Amino acid sequence: MKEVVVLVGAGSIGQACARRVSAGKHVVLGDLKLEATKATGKIFEDAGFSVSTITVDISNRESILKLVEHAQQLGAVKNLICAAGVSPSQAPVEKILQVDLYGTAVLLEEFGKIISEGGSGVVISSQSGHRLGALTEEQNFQLATTPTEELLNLPFLKAITDTLKAYQYSKRCNVLRVAGQATSWGKRGATINSISPGIIITPLAADELKGSRGEGYRKMLKASPAGRAGTPDEVGDLAEFLMSSRGRFISGADFLIDGGTTASYWYGDLQYLKATH
Ligand SMILES: NC(=O)c1ccc[n+]([C@@H]2O[C@H](COP(=O)([O-])OP(=O)(O)OC[C@H]3O[C@@H](n4cnc5c(N)ncnc54)[C@H](O)[C@@H]3O)[C@@H](O)[C@H]2O)c1
Repeated sequence: MKEVVVLVGAGSIGQACARRVSAGKHVVLGDLKLEATKATGKIFEDAGFSVSTITVDISNRESILKLVEHAQQLGAVKNLICAAGVSPSQAPVEKILQVDLYGTAVLLEEFGKIISEGGSGVVISSQSGHRLGALTEEQNFQLATTPTEELLNLPFLKAITDTLKAYQYSKRCNVLRVAGQATSWGKRGATINSISPGIIITPLAADELKGSRGEGYRKMLKASPAGRAGTPDEVGDLAEFLMSSRGRFISGADFLIDGGTTASYWYGDLQYLKATH
């Protein structure tokens, strides 16, 4: 029995996070798309990691429970990395809320019941959640603490009609959910945090930069404080720190890693974007 790292969402960001904390442990790669997961598994195996792959749909609690069971059969779950999600251009409102908001909340809840002493988790949220204006204290509390099966019935979530808002609320909820779960994870001697990346170059983002909306993205990146997009490895480095022994005093927190884009969106050269978001 080894210590187990569970990566849900086997895209580039999740892979970068998992590679940094998985040496000597067993990696469970879970994703909706088994073929893509197997391809990622092969890359991990070729790099010396011990891996198993499993199909999981995080919008379905039963599927998450099977993942938990699979992981526990292999050993004590030391790390959870949640990097699964759908973006505003990939899915309708209901799907985004079901996967990004509800699915992430169930993952946090179920892994929070079994995470091992000294363990840690990270959830990949997004800068998008930081572009939503301030919510009321009551809304924050509801997103952080409403029982998972009742979450999607919150009236202000039911009122969402566009996919960008659905994504922004989901990512804001990820951050609040992490804060809400920090207490129960702490009782097990574990930490849980979220990371909110800006535009990170992945195959999908690279396509977007070359596609019809690419010019707008390139203009935004050029005008941002960093003047460029981020890389999965930079997110991986932050995740590694949070899950390392140096990160043990950090829990229930969110970390923006966006090259200053959010700061510029609210107060700097990127304020022109407010009209379109
Ligand atoms: N790439 C960026 O610029 C960027 C920026 C901010 C936040 N993010 C977030 O980072 C995370 C990872 O994104 P990525 O860029 O690596 O994208 P990606 O599309 O490569 O990875 C997401 C993975 O989630 C999986 N997935 C989708 N629905 C699922 C479901 N119901 N159950 C299980 N798996 C499911 C997909 O199959 C995919 O492999 C996402 O949550 C995304 O919102 C990405």
